[in-house]
Amino acid sequence: MADRLRWGIISTARIGIRRVIPALLRSRTGTAVAIASRDLARAREVAAKFQIPRAHGSYEALLADPDVDAVYNPLPNTLHPEWTIRAARAGKHVLCEKPLAIDARQAQTMVDACRAAGVLLQEAFMYRFHPQITELRRLVASGAVGVPWLARSAFTFAVGSDDDIRLNPALGGGGLLDVGCYCVSISRLLMGEPNAVTASGAFERGVDVRLAGLLTFAAGTALFDCGLRLPYRQFCEIVGAEGTITLPRPFQPEEDPAVLLVRRGGQDERVEIPGTNQYTLMLDHMGTCILQRRQPQFPPEDAVANLRVLDALQASARSGNPVGL
Ligand SMILES: NC(=O)c1ccc[n+]([C@@H]2O[C@H](COP(=O)([O-])OP(=O)(O)OC[C@H]3O[C@@H](n4cnc5c(N)ncnc54)[C@H](OP(=O)(O)O)[C@@H]3O)[C@@H](O)[C@H]2O)c1
Repeated sequence: MADRLRWGIISTARIGIRRVIPALLRSRTGTAVAIASRDLARAREVAAKFQIPRAHGSYEALLADPDVDAVYNPLPNTLHPEWTIRAARAGKHVLCEKPLAIDARQAQTMVDACRAAGVLLQEAFMYRFHPQITELRRLVASGAVGVPWLARSAFTFAVGSDDDIRLNPALGGGGLLDVGCYCVSISRLLMGEPNAVTASGAFERGVDVRLAGLLTFAAGTALFDCGLRLPYRQFCEIVGAEGTITLPRPFQPEEDPAVLLVRRGGQDERVEIPGTNQYTLMLDHMGTCILQRRQPQFPPEDAVANLRVLDALQASARSGNPVGL
């Protein structure tokens, strides 16, 4: 393998163009060598925009490219498993967009295929690589607010177009899979694995467009809401007996300074973390793991565990009953 990880990008997805390819251009460990689209002209156009050396007119051609060590898979959610498994069988490491699949069972097949092929699979939950999350975890673990008993979070926005993949059930749409997955992820990061969930949702064309969920843990509770037909909001608050920590922008702080508001003992403290690109941090973590044969900070089994909770929330929202885990 070259001394930098050579990335191939599967599709001209918006998230790649807006965030991940620009972040890859700033990576210390990786370089973009190829991009594929179902439409070769489109692949060429995006390749030219970012000076990516090769454009392919099919995803198969990208996987057959011997100069590609790792692929970034930002396809619609229902296509994540097929193309991740095909990439693994072609010997490529895979950074797959969140959620890894539309349910835990499919995600497990991806983890198994990547293990069998000896390639690394990472879910592209970039928010976890931001130093504000490291600091949040450090503060909570150090007992800064006492034992955390409540995690509250939200991630909502107004979807731009009725043609968006997020409103298409056949492509794995729905707010829970799109943005609720962040709230469940951060709740699990702070509180461990829940033992039961309850959810209430509003549905449109068969996908949840607004959903509120409650996760019950052995010692605590998480509450969240997510949605595609709501104003843009994000926050996370941890409540312990001795104080609270609030992150106004836990998931998408952009490259602005990130802020943690810590309230304890009647005092308010504002912890400011310098701005950074969390996508570049994510790409460099994966690059370092592969190039230096290190274990990833977040193994892909975590993505399966996250989907297990999302599956239960989906079932609860549809049945109206609590679901045990
Ligand atoms: N981590 C993050 O910050 C973040 C943010 C947004 C989205 N995401 C995730 O990234 C993924 C893509 O989201 P996006 O908003 O970027 O999607 P998008 O712009 O709609 O792009 C999806 C791409 O998939 C390809 N594709 C293949 N088959 C398709 C089909 N049947 N219908 C539609 N597209 C098809 C298309 O590329 P070609 O035509 O070039 O083949 C299309 O451009 C999702 O899993 C989403 O959850 C992550």
